[in-house]
Amino acid sequence: MDKDLGKRRSAEEAAKYVERGMTLGLGTGSTAAYLVDILGERVKEGWQLRGVPTSEETRRHAERVGIEIIEPDETTQIDLAIDGADEVDPNLNLIKGGGAALLREKIVANAAKKFIVIADKSKRVTALGAFPLPVEITPFGWALTVRAMREALKASGFEQAKLTLRARDGAPVITDGGNLIIDCELGRIENPAPLDAKLSSLPGVVETGLFTDMTDLVIFGDDNDVSIAKAA
Ligand code: 5RP
Repeated sequence: MDKDLGKRRSAEEAAKYVERGMTLGLGTGSTAAYLVDILGERVKEGWQLRGVPTSEETRRHAERVGIEIIEPDETTQIDLAIDGADEVDPNLNLIKGGGAALLREKIVANAAKKFIVIADKSKRVTALGAFPLPVEITPFGWALTVRAMREALKASGFEQAKLTLRARDGAPVITDGGNLIIDCELGRIENPAPLDAKLSSLPGVVETGLFTDMTDLVIFGDDNDVSIAKAA
């Protein structure tokens, strides 16, 4: 399968859900970038669209293609958020955060009236966990937070969990929120919601990349086609 073609097809299909005048949550990553390009074309055709970007990278991209950017406040209504994912299970639970944008992505998806995920078909899995789970933590006391995460994971049955501070070019990756990312190799995650709750309850943990019970629709693309999975 040509993954890039699958990503583009899923973005094209998702664009059909976008209506004139909407305020959109704009996701982060290579799949979401295809959608931003398509939306930019719409704006050039005269559509009025406003975007709440989920990362500084997406903000720059959206500005480049002419989409009006708005800063979210408590009155902001996000009609539709569209974002990529690293894994999608049969219940439409997700692992996200491969692009380190999981915090803003989760805030925006949670606030949106509708949340659509776009992905190439390789992201469809029978259970989450082959992709290491990203967890955003504060820089202060980070090693203590990792120790607490290890203990919590052990107590949740993940005895073999391997936790790694995400780094690029020898330096820790810093998120748009000024935090760090710990990538957790866990293996199969049977029950994502309790694991999300457990990790999120730890001091120092800002957010996890587990998105449970949030997704309305997933559009999977491949070389030839798209398929749609809907929340039960
Ligand atoms: C960024 C994300 C992305 O949506 C996820 O990593 C998928 O990226 P891509 O579309 O490039 O495969 O969660 O934090």
